[in-house]
Amino acid sequence: MMEKISKSLLTRQSKAPLFDVLSARAKRNVISFHCPGHKNGRSVDRELKDYTGEEVYKFDVTVFDEVDSLHDPVGPIKKAQKLMAQAYGVKHSLFLVNGTSVGNMAMFLAACDSGDSIIVSRSSHKSIMAGIIMSGVWPIWIQPKIDQNLDLVFNSTYEQVKDALDKYPESKAVFVTSPTYNGVVTELGKIVDLCHRRGKIVLVDEAHGAHLMFNKNLPESAVVAGADLCVQSTHKILSAMSQGSVLHFNSSLIDFNRVKKIVSMLQTTSPNYLILASLDLARRQAFLRGGENFDAVIEAAEWGRSYINNNISSMKCFTRREIQELGFDLDVTKLTVNVTKTGLSGYEIEAILAKEYNIQLDYADLFNLVAIMGEGSIKSDVETFVSALENINKEYHGEQKNWVLKIPSLGTEMVLRPREVFLSNNTKKIGLKKAVGHIAAQTLTPYPPGIPIIIPGERITKEICDYLIDMSSKDIRISGQETEMLRTVKVFTN
Ligand SMILES: Cc1ncc(COP(=O)(O)O)c(C=O)c1O
Repeated sequence: MMEKISKSLLTRQSKAPLFDVLSARAKRNVISFHCPGHKNGRSVDRELKDYTGEEVYKFDVTVFDEVDSLHDPVGPIKKAQKLMAQAYGVKHSLFLVNGTSVGNMAMFLAACDSGDSIIVSRSSHKSIMAGIIMSGVWPIWIQPKIDQNLDLVFNSTYEQVKDALDKYPESKAVFVTSPTYNGVVTELGKIVDLCHRRGKIVLVDEAHGAHLMFNKNLPESAVVAGADLCVQSTHKILSAMSQGSVLHFNSSLIDFNRVKKIVSMLQTTSPNYLILASLDLARRQAFLRGGENFDAVIEAAEWGRSYINNNISSMKCFTRREIQELGFDLDVTKLTVNVTKTGLSGYEIEAILAKEYNIQLDYADLFNLVAIMGEGSIKSDVETFVSALENINKEYHGEQKNWVLKIPSLGTEMVLRPREVFLSNNTKKIGLKKAVGHIAAQTLTPYPPGIPIIIPGERITKEICDYLIDMSSKDIRISGQETEMLRTVKVFTN
């Protein structure tokens, strides 16, 4: 990307207007009669200040003219958002201070009216259930494909989206997650073309892809593919502070004023300016140095991947080529390490890494470890990680388990909209064994694979009931269960 950039664009992108205003203000030691109560950090606990230093609290201000308002920006926040939009090549970008979670909710509310249908993969982040409930849409679920050789759940494919659109031509929009937690990117360009030809809106959860835009060796970003709305966790892989995300708008099918109003409705009126300034700086850093920074991260990740595959007999990382052969692409900066041959679960190895090696992973499940690399990752960290895995490989030898990653068929009937059931008091708990034929009034999600097995408003089939009974008899975590053991399920009673 960097080769084509004009000098004037580089000069503009070298600026960080929000950070500049906040840092200049911090130097002036302004007497504060505004929130927050710590007054430029004066009353912040000494123990905390000993760790953080004093200066950072001068960035923790409230809304006034000089620093601008997130809800109605006219000054430095407006300029910083404009630079963000320019960096990503979209019409508008909105800063978020409650992560991609709030962006996902906003996308549903912005694209759909109550009663509309939207095509969405069942393997989406939990915030999309919030978006579905808040907006009152009918979800049309795509059942994700599972690869039992790789123990991996995929995002929606072009064919799956096309089938769903053919079957439900009334759908207003398609919601896609890309990349997945494991870095798998779907054929977004083809999906966007198809949807736009049919007048459908494309919403993309690109929580894990804010960096894709800035390095030519990474898969194509949703903003390049032409998504109408796309939300990115700038804090996940780039260098923004946690909670710092961005919602990109690039649509002729959605009214931008509606998007702005919804985002404003969902966000705090006291945004943390340190998060906002970090978005401004993360954009500048990625635009100016993302190419070279991510070249180094890619090299370190690929080194780790190949070392594990060539030297650690009981572990395996899938490669970009393997994923491409399956019709997807891979952001190679994410290292998914399959550990099923060690005889230990991913959870167990994650705990060993934390306790014995001082290494904390982002995620593990029965089958895999997921090591997430970001703009701050360096090769020596990967070397330490890989050497810890090598030791674990030598020290632990268990029996290989017969775990299989599978889910029942989820093509069940949606009888009521999730919102209607969620807001209703007409629910009761019944024994799991008696649940067949009832309408679910709760979400139950076994981990792995982290795919909701029942959703409020959906008819419970015998296959789903048997699966839940089987899960509850094993050591499988089921998110959403309200009692210690899963023996009952909440259903709708009319
Ligand atoms: C695919 C996906 N979408 C959305 C989110 C939520 O993002 P955030 O933590 O920025 O709210 C996550 C978080 O892990 C995620 O993995």
